[in-house]
Amino acid sequence: MKIIVVGTGFVGLPHAAVLSEYGHEVYAYDIDEERIRAYQSGDRDQIERYVNEPGLVEAIEETIDRYLHFTTSLDDVIESTDIIFMCLPTPPKRDGSTDLRFYMNAAHYLGGLLAQRSDKKRVVLVNKSTVPVSTARQLQKVMEEHGVENYGVASNPEFLAQGSAVEGSRRPDRVVVGADTEEDFVLLRQVYSQFVNHVRIRYLETTPETAESIKYVANTLLLTYISFWNGVGARLGESYANIHMEDLKIGVTADERISTWGSYVSNGAGGSCFGKDIQSLIYQLNRSGRSTDLLQAVYNINEYQKTYMIDRAVYEANFNFNNKRVALLGLAFKKRTNDMRDSSALKAVESLLAKGVAEIRAYDPLAMDDAQRSWFSPDNNHLFERITYHGTAKKAIEGSDALYISTDWEEFRGLASTIEQAVEPPYLVIDGRRMIPDYDRLIAKGYDYLSVGSVLRRPQPEEMDEDHSNGQLNAGVGQKMKTA
Ligand code: UGA
Repeated sequence: MKIIVVGTGFVGLPHAAVLSEYGHEVYAYDIDEERIRAYQSGDRDQIERYVNEPGLVEAIEETIDRYLHFTTSLDDVIESTDIIFMCLPTPPKRDGSTDLRFYMNAAHYLGGLLAQRSDKKRVVLVNKSTVPVSTARQLQKVMEEHGVENYGVASNPEFLAQGSAVEGSRRPDRVVVGADTEEDFVLLRQVYSQFVNHVRIRYLETTPETAESIKYVANTLLLTYISFWNGVGARLGESYANIHMEDLKIGVTADERISTWGSYVSNGAGGSCFGKDIQSLIYQLNRSGRSTDLLQAVYNINEYQKTYMIDRAVYEANFNFNNKRVALLGLAFKKRTNDMRDSSALKAVESLLAKGVAEIRAYDPLAMDDAQRSWFSPDNNHLFERITYHGTAKKAIEGSDALYISTDWEEFRGLASTIEQAVEPPYLVIDGRRMIPDYDRLIAKGYDYLSVGSVLRRPQPEEMDEDHSNGQLNAGVGQKMKTA
């Protein structure tokens, strides 16, 4: 089939590469000329500057110029196209609604081109970006405005997670196709023929509105799971010394009706999707006059969780951040990515600066260049001059008064010995990701350890026992802190 993919970011590029693996003739289009040149070069560093996903460069190398073509103009390509996938950015506006500017600009460009076609062959415009319910109808209106003939609109949301986009495109758990006519379902079945009768992949055909909704409900439910564990399970573990979070998780999720995913308690979920999607869904439901109490609570719990551990350090460990040097380990929103969008580390930086720290000593295995280039640039705010960048976790820790672990990079699991080598106690380790299973050895040597989902662990247990009888610690702390 002849396929155009409009937009070559995190969604569009892996999708185009994987479609071309199945022998479709794929034209990946973007308005950004530099980006297209980078992809055409085939050079790993240049491609990964834009999208850094395991297996992506290899996938591009395999089919480039044979089945996969990159272009900044569709003028000579549009004739006889079967399918156009829309993979455009849909950022949030200030009020939480979705900014469809890029999407609609592309729709008008395509409408103009499609109206000029001489062959008038059936073409289906398929949306893959996360867009508000009924966006497919808006797309239809744009096509009508341009007088396009013989077209269909469809919704085919993507469910890829960062770090496994290529694998996720090759073997998704589901393919959801929302369309209006059998003719269009048939065309999409041809594109996805490898998935249609697959024994493990659910291939669902439904209306465009249902398909659009599936993406929002799925993402907000996932964030609800995370927020439930952060807002309930972790809170219990933080209140009673004898609760073991890992056992709590195993005991609860043994019930097959309860997901294990999301039970990994953390300093909040980040990334470009969850926050944006829940805000957009709240906006859409409010506009229909529906109440959104649950979603609002989930959003608030997650946002609060991003700075909660810093507040706990103040109220539970009596740590005064003023004029202190704090090592910040992990800037990306999760491991195996350099993406810092909506990352908990960004909120932590704001909170630490507001608390008057003298220095934030940052380290991340992948995100350092991006951090220095963009968000943390001193041009943005003179306070960011207090952020220094270090080549290893050990270097960041050296000379600091406290340490905050923000991202779940595997290398942080070995931090106990690094901390012992780098700094002397008294020293506070704040762990937003439960990355140090052998924290006992730190406490034995005089370090304080404060982890999400557990009570503060510090060297003199007998003193703690006197203060807090019945094994219940931290009672009353919640009164000083904003409770999530
Ligand atoms: C998320 C969804 O998982 C995908 O299904 C969806 O397709 C995608 O958004 C999207 O809409 O494009 P992603 O943003 O790549 O994927 O990230 P996740 O792996 O879901 O992680 C999100 C955040 O939650 C990270 O900060 C992660 O560390 C955190 N998390 C995850 C937890 O705090 N606890 C957990 O148990 C799981």
